[in-house]
Amino acid sequence: MSTAFDAGNGKITVPDILRRKTNVPPSSNQNTDPGRDRRESDGRKIVCLTAYDYPTARLVDEAGVDIVLVGDSLGMVVLGYENTLPLTVDEMLHHTRAVRRGVRKALLVADMPYGSFHGDKNEAVRNAVRFVKEAGAEAVKIEGGERRMELIAQMVEAEIPVMGHIGLTPQSMHAFGGFRVQGKTVEAADQLLRDARAVEAAGAFSVVLESIPRELATRITSELRIPTIGIGAGPECDGQVLVLHDMIGLSLGHTPKFSRRYANVGEAISHAVTAYAEDVREGRFPSDAESYHLSSEVRERLLAVRRS
Ligand code: KIV
Repeated sequence: MSTAFDAGNGKITVPDILRRKTNVPPSSNQNTDPGRDRRESDGRKIVCLTAYDYPTARLVDEAGVDIVLVGDSLGMVVLGYENTLPLTVDEMLHHTRAVRRGVRKALLVADMPYGSFHGDKNEAVRNAVRFVKEAGAEAVKIEGGERRMELIAQMVEAEIPVMGHIGLTPQSMHAFGGFRVQGKTVEAADQLLRDARAVEAAGAFSVVLESIPRELATRITSELRIPTIGIGAGPECDGQVLVLHDMIGLSLGHTPKFSRRYANVGEAISHAVTAYAEDVREGRFPSDAESYHLSSEVRERLLAVRRS
């Protein structure tokens, strides 16, 4: 399924996101120029948040975010897996469809789960096509830098806009030996710079920078012509993304230090459920006003039938 939008109705598209790049560097001699048809940036930061179902998608979209990401964090914050690795393409498709039904304006990006793009490249492109064709995604996100260059280019060739993702890529947790800030040594920072350049040169329209030092994110942001979207990468990125359940206090596990909490929905749910349980047990719920009633005529008849 997919949803058609009229141009100019406020719908945010991939070219709109490209136009939001701040501090566009002078043109370089790279073989692709993703910003070639851009007007001057209006300097507004890109706001991105995750959503995983219809109600959260509607709320996030109606609040005016620019990009809704169906992240593979779904596996941990909604499905209760220990990490993102077990999540399947079918699970991601199921949730992306639900999110699609709730998003009208924001750009809808779906994360490619672990294993869906790590083998044969043609199969990876077929998997990405499923997100667009069967779930209505407008772009996909792929973790990895230099080593994903060819794949990203192949996806772009298949008309699928790609958001890159470098730094602390959770699907690499075993290779990294856990969840650690990346790019802290000269060599690691150089590698991340190469990763960022590679993702851009392959044709990605944006790149997520996760858990890297602020200074490195600033350097990458000033060098790239595509927008950087930071999560734990400091304020100089062109935009920011957070996991919705972390920022509203609904994730039950550890939340990283960069994730600011704006609400405590978990506590609100807990209070509501406790109060409901007490009301049921004490006979305070439902009240008469919360009950349906018969008309007096039917009530009389019912009583008459009972008496006879
Ligand atoms: O899965 C996810 O939610 C993500 C964001 C944190 C960027 O990849």
